Amino acid sequence: MDQLQQLFPQVGPVPFPGAYLAHNLRQATRQPSQPFVYANFVASLDGRIAVPAADGRGLTVPKQTANERDWRLYQELAAQADLIISSGRYLRDWAAGRAQEILQVDDPRFADLRAWRQERGLKPQPDIAIISGSLRFPIPEVLTAGGRKVVVFTTAQPDPDRVREIEDQAGRVFVVGEERVEGGRLARQMAELGYETVYSAAGPQIVHLLLAANVLDRLYLTHASRLLGGVPFASIVEGPLFAQAVDMRLNTLYFDPAGLDGLGQLFVSYERV
Ligand SMILES: NC(=O)c1ccc[n+]([C@@H]2O[C@H](COP(=O)([O-])OP(=O)(O)OC[C@H]3O[C@@H](n4cnc5c(N)ncnc54)[C@H](OP(=O)(O)O)[C@@H]3O)[C@@H](O)[C@H]2O)c1
Repeated sequence: MDQLQQLFPQVGPVPFPGAYLAHNLRQATRQPSQPFVYANFVASLDGRIAVPAADGRGLTVPKQTANERDWRLYQELAAQADLIISSGRYLRDWAAGRAQEILQVDDPRFADLRAWRQERGLKPQPDIAIISGSLRFPIPEVLTAGGRKVVVFTTAQPDPDRVREIEDQAGRVFVVGEERVEGGRLARQMAELGYETVYSAAGPQIVHLLLAANVLDRLYLTHASRLLGGVPFASIVEGPLFAQAVDMRLNTLYFDPAGLDGLGQLFVSYERV
């Protein structure tokens, strides 16, 4: 059987497909009136999670770090969610043909994850939350298929015409911040809507707003054993200095010797303190 080498908290082999399903995120302890919120990134050793896209339009996950085995664990994290957070940028990329479904339940490689959700009475797809100040994004029809809900979180005094358009087409719009979406208000609103297990698949600005409000419970990082260099690039967190450093405690650590065609990679998770 395919395996990872667990290095913390115990040492020993663990089965590879299934390593993150075994984290049982739907049973994780939540803070009162908040969902359990987790995020995930694959990063190069020099901390790059996104580099300029080949077509020169914006940033994208580097092809040198993206890999099948990381993608499998990403899917295992997404499969456990009842809400996935994404951004206005994601929908703009989707419209431009540069983004794909986050949880790929229609891919035969992940048929087991579809079955896993079904066994637990979950819809094939988690609902999707879009965080956007601009509200400038198209909503692809596929996003609202199969009973999936779209929830949009934005800032004060949104354009009422745009709100009506989004609500007619897709889902509800909630104001959860003044100038910027604020993590505490976002988390409370998600809880009020009944969401308990929330995966942030978005990028460094959204992780920043979650960390600034102390509502990110778990951070998953894949360290691909490669360095890329170059500017510009995105790292896992982007935004102003935190008033206080955010402390995280090591939760699990696995070495994947087969990752990146035998180069190897580390799968690490950290828990909020
Ligand atoms: N390597 C990895 O594992 C990984 C993981 C995730 C993302 N990425 C990459 O990282 C790059 C950036 O991703 P991203 O654009 O999704 O992430 P992001 O930087 O977190 O989000 C950017 C968008 O989210 C909205 N936003 C963020 N913070 C907000 C706030 N406080 N209030 C209101 N709106 C806010 C804005 O939307 P509006 O402009 O609509 O207002 C903004 O354009 C992409 O290239 C992506 O592929 C890599």
